[in-house]
Amino acid sequence: MASKIHKICCVGAGYVGGPTMSMIAHKCPDIRIDVVDINEKRIAAWNSETLPIYEPGLSELVTGSRGRNLFFSTEIERAIREADIIFISVNTPTKTYGQGAHRAADLCYVEAVSRIIAENAEEPKIVVEKSTIPVRTAEAIRAVFDASDTEHHHEVLSNPEFLAEGTAISDLESPDRILIGGEQTPGGLKAINQLADIYNHWVSEDKIIKTNLWSSELSKLVANAFLAQRVSSINSISALCEKTGANIDEVAKAIGSDSRIGPKFLKASIGFGGSCFEKDLLNLVYLCEHFGLPEAAQYWESVLQMNDWQKKRFADQIVDSFFNTINDKVISILGFAFKKDTNDTRKSPAIDVCKRLLDEKAKLLIYDPKVEVNKIYDDLGTDEENPNVVICSDPNQTFENAQAIITLTEWDAFKDIDYEAAYQAMQKPAWIFDGRNVLDHKKLTEIGFQVRSIGKPHEP
Ligand code: UDX
Ligand code: ADP
Repeated sequence: MASKIHKICCVGAGYVGGPTMSMIAHKCPDIRIDVVDINEKRIAAWNSETLPIYEPGLSELVTGSRGRNLFFSTEIERAIREADIIFISVNTPTKTYGQGAHRAADLCYVEAVSRIIAENAEEPKIVVEKSTIPVRTAEAIRAVFDASDTEHHHEVLSNPEFLAEGTAISDLESPDRILIGGEQTPGGLKAINQLADIYNHWVSEDKIIKTNLWSSELSKLVANAFLAQRVSSINSISALCEKTGANIDEVAKAIGSDSRIGPKFLKASIGFGGSCFEKDLLNLVYLCEHFGLPEAAQYWESVLQMNDWQKKRFADQIVDSFFNTINDKVISILGFAFKKDTNDTRKSPAIDVCKRLLDEKAKLLIYDPKVEVNKIYDDLGTDEENPNVVICSDPNQTFENAQAIITLTEWDAFKDIDYEAAYQAMQKPAWIFDGRNVLDHKKLTEIGFQVRSIGKPHEP
C-alpha cells in the first residue's frame, strides 16, 4: 500500500458516494477517483448532463473534475485493483427478514462489496466504511476478509459522512468535523493518517477527530438519533401549542436562543423523513435491545413513535376539517421530496400523508419541482392509469377546482406562488394546510383561505 494516496475507488454512486467523491476530486486534483456502481443507468446519468441526483452546486462540481481526475463507471473490479483506498458507499436498508427484521440494517450490499474487494485486491488496501452502518460493521467486513483466501491484510476504517441532502456541497466544503475510526495498531493508525491526509487538502487538522472503530461507528448513529430527537421534541410541543394557543415558532425561537439548546433543528414539521433518521434510530433500538437495555431501547423508539404520530395527526386534521369526507375532493399537493433542495423521496412524510388521503378516496394533484414523475407513482404504489393521482409540471395546474392546498415540502418557490389566483381557481371554502410552516398565514387568511398549520393558533 502506497504511503501517499494516488488512487481512490468509491463503490456506490448514490447520494453519499457521488457528492463526497466529487468534492474530494475537486479539492485533490493530484488524486484519481473512480466512482463505480452496479447500476448502469445511474452511472450513465453521472456521465451525462442530467445527474441522477439533484443537489445545489453538484453539477458544477462534477463538470469541473469529470474526465480529469473523476471517473464514473461500472468497472468495479478494475477500480478496486488499482486503488490505494476503497470507500464503501452502498445502501444499507433496514432488514425486512430474519433476525432483526424491521430494526437491524441489512449488510448484504456491504458484504457483497467486501467479497469483491477480497477477491480482486492484489495488495493490501485501506477499506473505508462510508455508508451509514450499524456499529460493528467493520467487524463484518473484517470477517469477510479473514474468511477469504487472500494473503493481504486490509485495514478497515470507519469514516461516517455527516452531509445533509440539500446542503451536501457546503457541508462537504466546510464540515463541522471529519471523523475517522480505526484499529489502534501501528497499521491502523497509519491508515487513519493516510485518510486524514486526503481531508487535510481542505479541512484543518483540528477538525479531524480520530477514534477507535466502534466510537466512530456509534457516533454516526447517535448524531442522527439526537437530531431526530430534536425534531420529535419540537413536534410534540407543536401539538401542545395547537391546544393552548402558543405559537411553535415563537417557542422555538425563545428556547433556541439559550446557547445550551441552540437554534438549529427546531423547525416543527409534519415529521422527519430521509434515508437516515428512521434507519439509524431503528438500529440504535436494536443495539440497545441486543445488549439487554430495554429501557434505553424504548426511549429511542419513542422518538420514532412521535414522528409517526405527527404525520398521522396532520393527515387526520385534514380529513377532520372536511367532516371525515374527502371522497372525490380535489386536493393540491405542493412538494413530495423529504426536504427542500433534493429530489430524494426516501421515507418522505409526503408519502404517508398522500397515501392516507388516497385511502380516503381524495383526488390528488401533485407538484414537486425536482422529483421525477415515476418516482411519485412508485412511492404511492400506483401509476398514471390511476385517475386519483395526477402529477403536474406547474404548481398552478394543481389549484383548478381544488378544495385544499397542502404543503408537504418547504421548497422556497412555494412562497412566491400567486395565492390570489390560486384562491380564484379553487372551490370555496378553500383551505391551506401548511405542513412546513413556510407560507404567510396572515396574508392567506386575508385572501380568504381557511389556514391550518403546525403548532400555531388559527388566524382570526
Ligand atoms: C441527516 C443528517 O442531518 C446528516 O448529518 C446525516 O449525514 C444524514 O441524515 P438528511 O436526512 O439529509 O441528513 O437531512 P436533515 O436536514 O437532517 O433532515 C431530515 C428530516 O428532518 C427532513 O425530513 C427535514 O424536513 C426534517 N427536519 C429537519 C425537520 O422537520 N425540522 C428541523 O428542524 C430539521
Ligand atoms: P446512499 O444515500 O447511502 O448514498 P444510495 O441508495 O443513494 O444510498 O446509493 C447506494 C448505491 O450503491 C446505489 O447506486 C447502488 O446501486 C450501489 N450498490 C449497491 N450494491 C452495490 C454493489 N455490490 N456494487 C456496486 N454498487 C452497489
